[in-house]
Amino acid sequence: MLISHRRTLPLIGGFLMASLLAPLVSAQAADKVVVAHRGASGYLPEHTLEAKAMAYAMGADYIEQDVVMTKDDELIVIHDITLDRTTDVAEKFPNRARADGHFYAIDFTLAEIRSLAASEGAYTRDGKRQQGYAARFPMGKSSFRIATLAEELELIQGLNFSTGRDVGIYPEIKSPEFHLAEGKDLGTAVVAALKAFGYTSKQHKVFLQTFSWEEVKRLRDEVLPAAGVDLKLVQLVGDDEEYQWMFTAQGMAQVGAYADGFGPDKSLLIDPESPAGQLKISELVSLAHASGMQVHPYTFRADAGQVPAWADSYEAMLEAFFFEAGIDGAFTDFPDRAVNFLRER
Ligand code: G3P
Ligand code: CA
Repeated sequence: MLISHRRTLPLIGGFLMASLLAPLVSAQAADKVVVAHRGASGYLPEHTLEAKAMAYAMGADYIEQDVVMTKDDELIVIHDITLDRTTDVAEKFPNRARADGHFYAIDFTLAEIRSLAASEGAYTRDGKRQQGYAARFPMGKSSFRIATLAEELELIQGLNFSTGRDVGIYPEIKSPEFHLAEGKDLGTAVVAALKAFGYTSKQHKVFLQTFSWEEVKRLRDEVLPAAGVDLKLVQLVGDDEEYQWMFTAQGMAQVGAYADGFGPDKSLLIDPESPAGQLKISELVSLAHASGMQVHPYTFRADAGQVPAWADSYEAMLEAFFFEAGIDGAFTDFPDRAVNFLRER
């Protein structure tokens, strides 16, 4: 790709100036993908089947599943390894918190978890429970439940059957080291579930993601071969110190030897403090592309305060990430707007 030429351009404080890069980016909007982050979570409670159906109807290319294991080894779709933020567990099981005050999904059976009401994510502030995004679906309204991975895959595959589309899945193995320390091999269980649903090769529309570099290596070297499948893997990356070694040509080549995709926090690609019109774009997209990886950053939100000051709208933010930084896909809570943006582009 032409993007590889960007490697020769000068770094300015770790970021390249966008004006130098724009003419070199040639990818087309049709090649880009929209990943519905926890479903259409800007509109319905995250990771509920309702939010997934809405994301599907909005035209997302992939729908994300964060996967955690229960006490009885069932796979459920939930972002946190605790139930505190998105359920009424504290009301229904007040005596089941660990010493740290949190209610861990791994301490509850699936039947117990099915008895919980799921809702918009909320936190206790000033002694009162308040939802994280005030303008999203009202906390505690209507009726939602946590779904199993199998239920969600049945939903997406059922919709693929009834619509004739081929919407992909994007499961994440959450906190694999925590699960292993608790005696549960989440990665192996997720791969087995995917195989049971027919996801067995890189030709299938599935990206398997995790923040753990050790887990990415274990999946590629041991888990996938043992299961007799070969899936696309995505290395997720935060802005923490532990990932800094990846941010060189040598480090990225090492990641690319195991992963097919690179999923960074979007602040690692365009400096959020960039002046408007003078974006500071890092070299990570070009390094990842040079190492054979697609780049799918997270998370694009349209809520108040979630669009960086250098962009005057959610769509302007997408324009810069897709067509100046050169990303291949985006995790977003607002898949309708990202789909419409790319269609019109
Ligand atoms: O998995 C990538 C994206 O979902 C961002 O991470 O914390 O929302 O699971 P998180
Ligand atoms: Ca995730």
